[in-house]
Amino acid sequence: MCGILGYVGPREAEPILVEGLRRLEYRGYDSAGVATLDGHKLHIRKKAGRVAELCEHLRERPSPGCLGISHTRWATHGGATDLNAHPHWAGEGDGQVAVVHNGVIENYAVLKRQLEAEGIIFRSQTDTEVIAQLIAYHLNGDLVEAVRKVLPMLKGTYGLAVISPRNPEWIVGARLGSPLVLGLGEGENFLASDPTALMGNTTKAVYLQDHQLCVLTADDWQIYDAQRSLVSANIQTIDWDIGDADKANFPHYMLKEIYEQPEAIENAMRGRLSDADSSAHFGGLNLDAQQLRRVERIIFTACGTSYHAALVGEYLIEEFARIPVEVEYASEFRYRNPPVDRNTIVIAITQSGETADTLAALRESKRKGHPTLAVCNVVGSTIAREADGGVYLHAGPEIGVASTKAFTSQVTVLTMLALYFGRMRHLSSLQGAKMISELRSLPDLVRKTLHCHDEVRRIAEKYSDVNNMLYMGRQYLYPVALEGALKLKEISYIHAEGYPAAEMKHGPIALVDEQTPSIFLMPRGPIFEKVMSNLEEVKARGGPVIAICSEGDDEIADYMAHKADDVIYVPDAPEYLQPIVTAIPLQLLAYHIALLRGCDVDKPRNLAKSVTVE
Ligand code: AGP
Repeated sequence: MCGILGYVGPREAEPILVEGLRRLEYRGYDSAGVATLDGHKLHIRKKAGRVAELCEHLRERPSPGCLGISHTRWATHGGATDLNAHPHWAGEGDGQVAVVHNGVIENYAVLKRQLEAEGIIFRSQTDTEVIAQLIAYHLNGDLVEAVRKVLPMLKGTYGLAVISPRNPEWIVGARLGSPLVLGLGEGENFLASDPTALMGNTTKAVYLQDHQLCVLTADDWQIYDAQRSLVSANIQTIDWDIGDADKANFPHYMLKEIYEQPEAIENAMRGRLSDADSSAHFGGLNLDAQQLRRVERIIFTACGTSYHAALVGEYLIEEFARIPVEVEYASEFRYRNPPVDRNTIVIAITQSGETADTLAALRESKRKGHPTLAVCNVVGSTIAREADGGVYLHAGPEIGVASTKAFTSQVTVLTMLALYFGRMRHLSSLQGAKMISELRSLPDLVRKTLHCHDEVRRIAEKYSDVNNMLYMGRQYLYPVALEGALKLKEISYIHAEGYPAAEMKHGPIALVDEQTPSIFLMPRGPIFEKVMSNLEEVKARGGPVIAICSEGDDEIADYMAHKADDVIYVPDAPEYLQPIVTAIPLQLLAYHIALLRGCDVDKPRNLAKSVTVE
């Protein structure tokens, strides 16, 4: 998704804006640009391609001034060209306006025709240029008035930053459906699409809400609501330090985040396991025990990897809390019209807290009167703020587009929720204490699991040229089969599918041939033998087999030596913790196969870290 950073203060804006764009690269983009004001002179510099190409352009043509806005664009209207890159500008002299925008203006074509009928010539194919032209057209007084006049004309979503020589000390921001956050410095202020861009500049943040407009100067900031009233906003502290968003000594963010999982899981559990109650504690559910005891059904709604975490949550909560659970793709659930059941709560699972479909599903659930919770990683994100309550992952920024530590942290939180709900119902204190002890051993279990890295790298070399891959798991591990397939798909571009292992017989086994490896998730457990028979079916048809098995069992090792082409051993773990343990070799496998195929692991083609458009 598009990234935005604005700066106003005593320092030259260009280097600050470019550094911010580099921090936003992980969001996925195809062009970048900056606009700065040097006194009353507006400078625009923008290029298709990476931030590095924009920097090359800036070396030839610097963009002077201590106030500026910048943007990384993920194309929604019009291809990735210099002209379509943001900032978009319009007007003349001190009536010029420069705009950067995240979102989609659905009625841009109508507005564009109206402006063209007034003789205005457009330079680009974008919806955003319509905003710039409209503001310039209505810039009769000051910039805030012109923006206020235009916003009601726009249908769709926007996170905007606007500057003009008319008011050269101001950055004007406005938000509807696409996130904007103010960064408050000493004698300088920032405006960004997400807190990552603020790193290294400030940890004080104010999140703009829908229909709010803000005005930033070097020494001050105001936020207004739709009725033009000043809004008092609470200043939050971003609890990430600058090191979190760097690659440290890893070659890629994705590998760093795979290795951060033990610590991320520790952070997810920190302060939330209670020996006294043999249960879990959450400070932000904002639903009291009585409300939670009355819950008769839980609906999880999510997208992508978060949807797979939700599927694990379904098994966990039904097993430990005996509450019926449904898992819904947010993009489907938002349009469905299920009968409303008063004792149903809806839980949105999301790393970014900004996924448009998940946000829409949450809002639809609230409209129907359901209590809502969010399991989310980004503090202060839209979904986190709009849910009635929730649980933060505390996993730190996840920069790699392919989600890894967020997945295992989400499953950790869902395990604790299962314990929490279970101890309100059927779980004894002894059972709760046992789960707490097992959860406390999880970070070390994950550290031990990472020892499989060299073996996984060797296996990746064997299979990096395949065109198809099948992933099979049962029960708790069926969602992990889906997740492993998604990891491989999204960063190596190999076609991969996950299935419940027994489902092989109902069609997918027709895909099996010598060129199509199958990965079986088969750690020790009550259905190990069942999965073994599925493996045999694949072997009988000449399909290569990779097995993920529990270490320390001679019988399994002996069997696998004869049956599987490759085996990855992971530490033995309770069945309900095996999703976390088995996900790690699959993350590493996708990572190394993608590398061997020369793919951009952190910024895979066509993908964005947070899908804030529908
Ligand atoms: C996962 O690797 C993908 N990047 C993607 O499926 C992601 O999980 C999905 O877009 C949901 O994002 P969210 O968790 O931020 O809502």
